[in-house]
Amino acid sequence: MEIKNYIEQNKDHFVSELFDLLRMPSVSADSAYKPSIEATAQWLKEALLKAGCDKAEVCKTPGNPVVYGEKYVGDNLPTVLVYGHYDVQPADPIEQWHTNPFAPVIKKTEYHPEGAVFARGACDDKGQMFMHIKALEYMVKEGKLTCNIKFMIEGEEEIGSKNLAWFVKNNQEKLKNDIILISDTGIIARDTPSINVSLRGLTYLEVEVTGPDKDLHSGVYGGAVANPVNVLSKMIAQLQDENNHITIPHFYDKVKEITPETRALFAEIPFSLENYKKGIGVTDVQVEKGYSVIESSTIRPSLDVNGIWGGYIGEGAKTIIPSKAFAKISMRLVPDQDWEEITALFTEYFTQIAPKGVTVKVTSLGGGPAYGISIDNDGYHAAEKAMQTTFGKRPIPTPEGGSIPIIALFEKELGSKSVLMGFGFDSDLIHSPNEHYGLFNFFKGIETIPYFFEYYAQMYKK
Ligand code: BES
Ligand code: MN
Ligand code: MN
Repeated sequence: MEIKNYIEQNKDHFVSELFDLLRMPSVSADSAYKPSIEATAQWLKEALLKAGCDKAEVCKTPGNPVVYGEKYVGDNLPTVLVYGHYDVQPADPIEQWHTNPFAPVIKKTEYHPEGAVFARGACDDKGQMFMHIKALEYMVKEGKLTCNIKFMIEGEEEIGSKNLAWFVKNNQEKLKNDIILISDTGIIARDTPSINVSLRGLTYLEVEVTGPDKDLHSGVYGGAVANPVNVLSKMIAQLQDENNHITIPHFYDKVKEITPETRALFAEIPFSLENYKKGIGVTDVQVEKGYSVIESSTIRPSLDVNGIWGGYIGEGAKTIIPSKAFAKISMRLVPDQDWEEITALFTEYFTQIAPKGVTVKVTSLGGGPAYGISIDNDGYHAAEKAMQTTFGKRPIPTPEGGSIPIIALFEKELGSKSVLMGFGFDSDLIHSPNEHYGLFNFFKGIETIPYFFEYYAQMYKK
């Protein structure tokens, strides 16, 4: 049976199983959800066995378990390792969801006239990861599995994959593969398929500014004592100049200028500034001077405050000079920037710009390097041909601004490259309230994956 027919016949099943997966609130950032994390891992193990894996297991780590599965078909065939994550971002701010984030529903949207599944994790990454399990089911049932397949589905991607690094280092033989296939990114539009060729790196820090050893009356002391919230605001403001360049000394030392070839390649990416602004409700964009929106948000570094707090935030007025102020600050990095080096540069600069009268503490919450993928390898070519087959259009290579920091470690420890064949849209609101994943995208993914296996095996023989 053709994959298209198989999907047509099993559509309702696929969606109802995905709903079951989405009902489990597997939030990795909050330990209160630990039982749900365990349940999700168990559920996936069963799903892998039902789909046709010879073996599947829930592997313990010092943190959340990794679900591993495999199906072996032959010695002379290539091995594809599918990576995905079953953990999800916290759902808050919960009051901004139109429906319960863990009670999936299908609703139509402008970009999803056939309907989209609304739930936390629908697109990032449960819906995308689950496509691979359903594609496996088809390939096994129909005797069309042309590669050995391994699954590694982790539960800590959204919090930095610390224990996956441990797992990979300790299971190199088990995880051995020829190519890693990942659906955890996006395409440009339904009529514009694309394959990601770069991800940014990341460093994430928390800063704490301390002034007086207790909150003080702002009338009695105001004017004479450094206010940590005022100070922190000024320090943050100094991190970027009027051109939106980052001011940390030596920050750009290893950043390569964008080549004319890259510029030309990106010029082919369709982009509407009006739709971009409309989609996120802003009146204007704020790019790094000299760079386009696409460049600024994908292959140039960026710096953002993710959260800031301190002082009195209750109802009404309370007149104080707070003792402390805090912020969570992250920087997206590009190839060759070393995240630990950038962390050190930030820490040095941030400590140095603090005025007298306060102390500053900077804590690293982790990070990882950027990743670039060549468009000239079997993995990319197989994905390109697979998408060409199912979309009827050749996918274009695109850069991505987000991060999957563990991919660089896969390459280092396992020696294999990754292919980023994702199917989400930028407008799917991953990490935001009302995250969703289109039925079109979900089924298109299931349809495309078996072609990847077919073409990859053909190329491998050569
Ligand atoms: N799937 C995303 C990465 C991504 C984001 C791909 C946007 C394509 C577009 C992944 O789950 C993610 O959110 N990664 C984090 C990494 C962090 C928690 C270490 C990110 O980019 O913030
Ligand atoms: Mn993801
Ligand atoms: Mn994510």
